[in-house]
Amino acid sequence: MCGIFGCILKEGNAAPLIHSSLKRLEYRGYDSVGIATISDGKIFMKKDQGKIDEVHKILNLDDLPGNLGIGHTRWATHGAPLKVNSHPHTDCTGEIMVVHNGIVENFMELKAELQNLGHTFVSKTDTEVIPHLIEETLKNNPKLSFVSAIQESIKRLEGSYALAIISSRDPDKIICARNESPLVLGINGKGVFCASDIPAFLPITNKAVMINNGELVILTAQGYEIKKISDSTPITREPITIEWTAEMAVKQGYPHFMIKEIHEQPETLRNTLRMQDHYLDLLTTFLDRANEVFLVACGTSYHACLAASYMFSKLAFLPTYPVYASEFVEQHGKSVNIDSTILAVSQSGETADTLAAVTCAQQRAATILGLTNVIGSTLTRISRVYIGTQAGPEIGVAATKTFTSQLSVLAQLALKLSKKRGKISQDEMDCLEENLKKMPEDVETIVRTQEEKIKQIAHKYKDSKVFFYLGRGISTATAYEGRLKLMEIAYIPSIAFPAGESKHGPISLVENGFPVVFICPRDDSHKTLIGNIMEMKARGAHIISVIEEGDEEIKALSEEYIEVPKGIPSVLSPIPFVVPLQLLAYYTALEKGLDPDMPRNLAKSVTVK
Ligand code: AGP
Repeated sequence: MCGIFGCILKEGNAAPLIHSSLKRLEYRGYDSVGIATISDGKIFMKKDQGKIDEVHKILNLDDLPGNLGIGHTRWATHGAPLKVNSHPHTDCTGEIMVVHNGIVENFMELKAELQNLGHTFVSKTDTEVIPHLIEETLKNNPKLSFVSAIQESIKRLEGSYALAIISSRDPDKIICARNESPLVLGINGKGVFCASDIPAFLPITNKAVMINNGELVILTAQGYEIKKISDSTPITREPITIEWTAEMAVKQGYPHFMIKEIHEQPETLRNTLRMQDHYLDLLTTFLDRANEVFLVACGTSYHACLAASYMFSKLAFLPTYPVYASEFVEQHGKSVNIDSTILAVSQSGETADTLAAVTCAQQRAATILGLTNVIGSTLTRISRVYIGTQAGPEIGVAATKTFTSQLSVLAQLALKLSKKRGKISQDEMDCLEENLKKMPEDVETIVRTQEEKIKQIAHKYKDSKVFFYLGRGISTATAYEGRLKLMEIAYIPSIAFPAGESKHGPISLVENGFPVVFICPRDDSHKTLIGNIMEMKARGAHIISVIEEGDEEIKALSEEYIEVPKGIPSVLSPIPFVVPLQLLAYYTALEKGLDPDMPRNLAKSVTVK
C-alpha cells in the first residue's frame, strides 16, 4: 500500500502542497518518498529512501518549481526501499514521470519485452515498466495523443494500480487511472487534486470525486474529465461533500485502525494472491531441500506458523516444527546446524526475540528464510531469501490483516511444495487454488453478514470472567489466535488448547455460563468436535460456535453461532474462521470502553527481548 498525490494549482508552486499532502498519506507507507513537478515545460524531481521528514531535511522537497506535480510515499513490495526504487519512475527520455500504488502482476514479461526493444531499467520495481510502456507506445504511434498513449499502455497492465502521470510532452495535464487501488479527486477554486485517499486534501477541500475501476482521468487547470479506459466512454460525476474530520479520514471513516484493517482483509488477501512466483518458487526450493524446518515467530505470527505446520504436513508431507522465537535458543540452540532451515515469520521484521533466534541459527550455519510485511526490515536483510506479505502498513497494535496475509502466503508455499513433490491430485490442487482465490470474497461475506451478530455476542458476554477457545487440528491455531486477540485488546483472561485436551485437565475450570468458543470447520474432526462440545455443554458452558453455513448439527448445540461460507477446505480454514474472532475481540473491547488501537502494556513491534 503506498500513497500517491497530484495537483494542478491556479497559482503558486505545487511542491509544498504535494509534500504536506504526502505527509497526510504517510500511514499508507513511509520507506521512501519522491516529488516531480513541471515548470516551463521542463521536469524537476527529487526523491530518496527514508521517511518524508528525513528526506525533506536533506533535499528540501518544497524547493521545486511549477504549479503542477505528483508525489509518492512508498511501502515497498517489489524492490527494497532504496532511492533507485522510490517513485516517481521515468522512461528512457526522462520526459514521463509516473507514481503508482498497486501491483503490476505481469511486470516481468513487460519488462523483458521492453528490454528487448532497447529500454534501460534502473530499478527492481514493477512500476518502472509503466513509463517505458508509454514511451514505446508513443514511439510506435507518433500520431497518438499523450493521453491516448497512456490509455493504450494501461490496457496491457494486469493487476492493481492507482496512477498519476505527468510529462513534459503534455505539460499542462495530470493523467490518472484506477484499477482496484483507491483513487479520489479533490476540487476547489484554487486547483484540482488526485490522491490515494481523502486525508491527503481534506484540509484544503471537502469536495471529492470518487474514481472507479477501469476509469481514466484527465486533470487540467480548468478541472477534470473522466472516461472509461476500455472504450473512452465519457463519464459525468459530480463532487460529493465529505463530512469526515481529518482524524476520521485517516481511518477512512472507521473509528479505529483495527476495525479498518479487519475490513481491509479482502483487499490485502487479493494482494497476497499477486505474489511474485519467482520468490515463492525460490522459497519452495529451499524448503524442498531442507533436512529439517523450524517455523520461528512470536505471538500472532507464531499462530500463523502453527497453522502452516499443518498445511506443510497435509499438503506437502513436509514435517515442520513451529517454535516460539523466545524459546528457540534454549530449545534448539545447540542442535540447529548447517542442515537446518529456519522460516522466520514476523509482521514487523524487527521483533527482537525472532531476530535473536535467527541470529543464533545463522551462527550455526542454518539457512534463513523470511516472511515479513516490512520490506527493508532487519529480517529481510539477514534472510537468504524473503517474501513480503504485501498487506500495507498495519497501524493497530493487534495483528489482523497481516495474520491472514501470512496464512495466505504460507498456504501458497505449501501448495507449491505439494505440486513440486507430486503429493496431491491435480483435482485437489485445483480445488485448493480455486478456494484460495475465492478467499477475499469469503472474508468479505463474513464481515458483511456476521458483523451485527458478533456485536450482539460481544455485548452479551462482555462481563465474562474467562473465555475458552477450542479447536481440533489446524483450528487449534485459529483458537490460539482468537484467544490472543481477546486477551490483548479486551483484557479478558482466555484459555485456548486443542479441544481433545479438555478432559486432560482444563475442563475442571468450566462453570455454568462459561463462554466456550469452538472453531468448527467441516473437516475430519467434525464428529469428534461434537463430542467435545457435548462435554462442555454437560458442565453448563455456553457454546459460541464458528461454523460452516448450514451446519445444523452444531447450530442445535450452540447458544450462539457465527457462520462462514460453505466448502472452505480445512487446510485453508484459519483464514476465514479467524475473522469472526477478530471482530469478537474488537467489539468486546468497545463494549468495555477500551481503545482497541492502543491496548495497555503492548507495542506494535516488540524490539526488546
Ligand atoms: C499480535 O496481535 C501482537 N501484536 C503480537 O503478538 C505480535 O504478533 C508479536 O509481537 C509478533 O510481532 P511480529 O509479527 O512483528 O514479529
